[in-house]
Amino acid sequence: MPEETHVLTASPADAAADWTIAQNWSNYTPEEHATWDTLFARQSRLLPGRASEAWMRGLDVLRLDKPGIPDFDALSDRLMKLTGWQVVAVPGLVPDDVFFDHMANRRFVAGNFIRRPDQLDYLQEPDVFHDVFGHVPMLADPIFADYLEAYGKGGQRALGLNALKYLGRLYWYTVEFGLVKEGDDLRIYGAGIVSSAAESRFALGSSSPHRIAFDLPRVMRTEYRIDDFQQNYFVIPSFDELLRVTIETDFSPLYARLKNKIDIPVATLLPDDRIITRGSQEYVEQRQ
Ligand SMILES: [Fe+2]
Repeated sequence: MPEETHVLTASPADAAADWTIAQNWSNYTPEEHATWDTLFARQSRLLPGRASEAWMRGLDVLRLDKPGIPDFDALSDRLMKLTGWQVVAVPGLVPDDVFFDHMANRRFVAGNFIRRPDQLDYLQEPDVFHDVFGHVPMLADPIFADYLEAYGKGGQRALGLNALKYLGRLYWYTVEFGLVKEGDDLRIYGAGIVSSAAESRFALGSSSPHRIAFDLPRVMRTEYRIDDFQQNYFVIPSFDELLRVTIETDFSPLYARLKNKIDIPVATLLPDDRIITRGSQEYVEQRQ
């Protein structure tokens, strides 16, 4: 589910200064709840054995299998008890500073609208299915919950350092499209993958994309595509390690170093990469 930026040009008149709005759960139509249920049923069949243990556990403890679009208040009550996070509704993409402020304070912003029935497979703007089904299960994991708060605080600092390009790539290749090693297997945890039927198959099953061991500076230099499946995925060894690296890294000098280096195009492998699977890139070649 591509979401390149968190920028909208103008705040809707009914939004608060922090851009939150009421979810208005009672306003969802039966058709909208049915869309959630259709997407939920499809992904629930696909994800056991593909999604990370942490994501599967989050789905369970948050009781997201209840039919219909979740009520954010009830969901936030459960989440608050587990990790101190809340889910707040926003009308769509919000400005970066607003996004980071919510995240630094353990509030996850979620679109309150749901895609139309003819958009089940693809929607550029994140809707409630992407945001809640895709992202919120990971917020029930204490380590990942800490990681996202650290990310929000890092985002606030990156804004002042004009380094959002680099930090945004960390979000993209972890929170949206991340893979994690579990035992001898790879599992998905990125929301852009777990909320997509096609990419949850592709990310693990296709011989096309490169799967590369996570390395923070490498990830931050790597471009990404927003219009199709990823051509490279980065694999973390564990959520503990992702959190540790994020907390222990001094980002300011790292940004300064990255600004002296060229960006790495998608599908490019470097001599220092630890390659987990070298992709054929056949998927992209067939599309051209
Ligand atoms: Fe997302």
